[in-house]
Amino acid sequence: MDRMQWKKWFEVGHDAIDFEHKIFFSLIHKLQSLIEVTGEAEAARRVLDETYKYADFHFTSEENIMLESEYPDFERHHELHQALLRRLRRSIDDMDGGLVAGPEVVSFLFYWFVEHTVAEDLKIATHLKERHLQQFFEASPPGGEVS
Ligand SMILES: [Fe+2]
Repeated sequence: MDRMQWKKWFEVGHDAIDFEHKIFFSLIHKLQSLIEVTGEAEAARRVLDETYKYADFHFTSEENIMLESEYPDFERHHELHQALLRRLRRSIDDMDGGLVAGPEVVSFLFYWFVEHTVAEDLKIATHLKERHLQQFFEASPPGGEVS
């Protein structure tokens, strides 16, 4: 797989989510270096652990944003997060069992990240924008008085 690069179209337009996505992406990028370029198995195991913990933290942040804004599709999105964590946990257990992580871990994480971000997380950002717009109009005085 080519060296992955951050693209502007990965951004969903919500500062906190985009900020955390960049850190998550940088961990996958680091994992790619360790697995595909330098072949450092022990360091890759540690970065995979860091990726798991960061993903867990980031998913909690995102889920809190969803709950605070009454996001309608919370349960399904939460389950997608849980499935990724289960998959990452399996890869870590495999490495602990002596299996050397191959490039498939990197490509899986990269494609999961891109697909999940542009297909699912973008919906949260859109929901937040619609909600703010709605609150703005609700807060406007009836009749829209002009002085
Ligand atoms: Fe998400």
